[in-house]
Amino acid sequence: MFDDAPSVHLGNASLDAVLADARQRFTAANPRSLERHRDAARALPGGNTRAVLWYRPFPLTLVSGDGCRVTDLDGHDYVDLVSEYSAGLYGHSDRTIAAALKEAIDQGLLLGAPNRYEARYAEALVERFPAIERIRFCNSGTEANIMALSAARAISGRSKILAFREGYHGGVLTFAHGGSPLNLPFPFVFADYNDTEGTVRLIEELADDLAAVIIEPMMGGGGCIPANRSFLAALREATTKAGAYLIFDEVMTSRLAYRALHGVHGINPDFVTLGKYLGGGASFGAFGGRADLIDRFDPASPNAFSHGGTFNNNILSMAGGFTGFTQVLTEQASADFNARGDRMRERMNAALEAHDIEGVVLGRGSLMNLHFVAGPVETPAPLDRGDPRLLALWHVEMLLRGFHAAPRGMMALSLPYGNAELDAFIAAFEDFLATHKSILPRRKA
Ligand SMILES: Cc1ncc(COP(=O)(O)O)c(C=O)c1O
Repeated sequence: MFDDAPSVHLGNASLDAVLADARQRFTAANPRSLERHRDAARALPGGNTRAVLWYRPFPLTLVSGDGCRVTDLDGHDYVDLVSEYSAGLYGHSDRTIAAALKEAIDQGLLLGAPNRYEARYAEALVERFPAIERIRFCNSGTEANIMALSAARAISGRSKILAFREGYHGGVLTFAHGGSPLNLPFPFVFADYNDTEGTVRLIEELADDLAAVIIEPMMGGGGCIPANRSFLAALREATTKAGAYLIFDEVMTSRLAYRALHGVHGINPDFVTLGKYLGGGASFGAFGGRADLIDRFDPASPNAFSHGGTFNNNILSMAGGFTGFTQVLTEQASADFNARGDRMRERMNAALEAHDIEGVVLGRGSLMNLHFVAGPVETPAPLDRGDPRLLALWHVEMLLRGFHAAPRGMMALSLPYGNAELDAFIAAFEDFLATHKSILPRRKA
């Protein structure tokens, strides 16, 4: 692919020059995506409607996907490691899910009543995920977190929410780089991820004011930093003592083990939120947890919370999600693809070490993130010390080598991603390291 792209002549070029050269080769190879991007800006600000899909010099337009591969408007094929930021767990063309979706479409999309999928799906989720005794469906991970946080505040009669710096829980729950002016106007208080002592102290200080602690058991958007089990256990203990609720945002991390990450750690939060792949390719969100809490949403109960949402039980998410979860994501499939992710992370770290490059691949199982900083990393602060131009270069160079990964260095595997793709990716990564050795940071002795 990209046969017509000029070759790289690095010499002693600066990082800026090398990045500009890579972007120039990318631009030359993708005229149709560039044209579509320019046209799109007439109605969409920046030609974009989802911030994370925008990157420089311009995002590729993808036109189709098959298995773990995607094709762009200029006809290039890529191995897909974006995997829709983890929602694409099943790959692009799972036949079993596609058949279920077709059947659902044929039988009517908008029935305006309970359908035959949602209760079975709820039961399957309750059966598999230990902390979920009852569950409600909604439309996105953001919505799931809003519902869990709002329920925690309403039930506790308390206001404050403890969250973690650089965490991400949705478009209006964004705590990276100092947070977003669009965030929900909840009184948030922040702690540092994996800082047991500091966080427990804060929970004790907030005591009667604290409604809930919200945490991802592995920070996904924050760089794929796994939480230490002892840290999560301390949060469980401290929130119980303070009478506050513990919310595990497993929108991304539930894919990391058959029984989700809370199942691996044997720690049951009060609420668990879900999303992404659990819609089987359609939009999805869910919040579940302790029966006594989620039962407040029973419309027949005297003090019920009303929970609206036109598409809460939409047929596509329910049929696709249920079928994928119960028929495709078997215990063996989950174990295999997460083990493959562990191998990929180990092989990338070994390659960085072999080339003497200061970098680390963080993560667990099928989710990982490359960072050009020294490891190990337990909390997001050191990640800021990485030069963002290095990941930008890596991203464009991996695209030019036929691998579609997230610009921030994140990679998510899908079930069809096999050993052949893994070997090819590692070869391309090694080639990137060797090609750019002169401008990549060296390990300190
Ligand atoms: C941990 C986490 N929580 C919540 C969300 C928000 O989910 P959605 O994009 O479906 O609103 C995301 C999305 O990336 C996420 O990674």
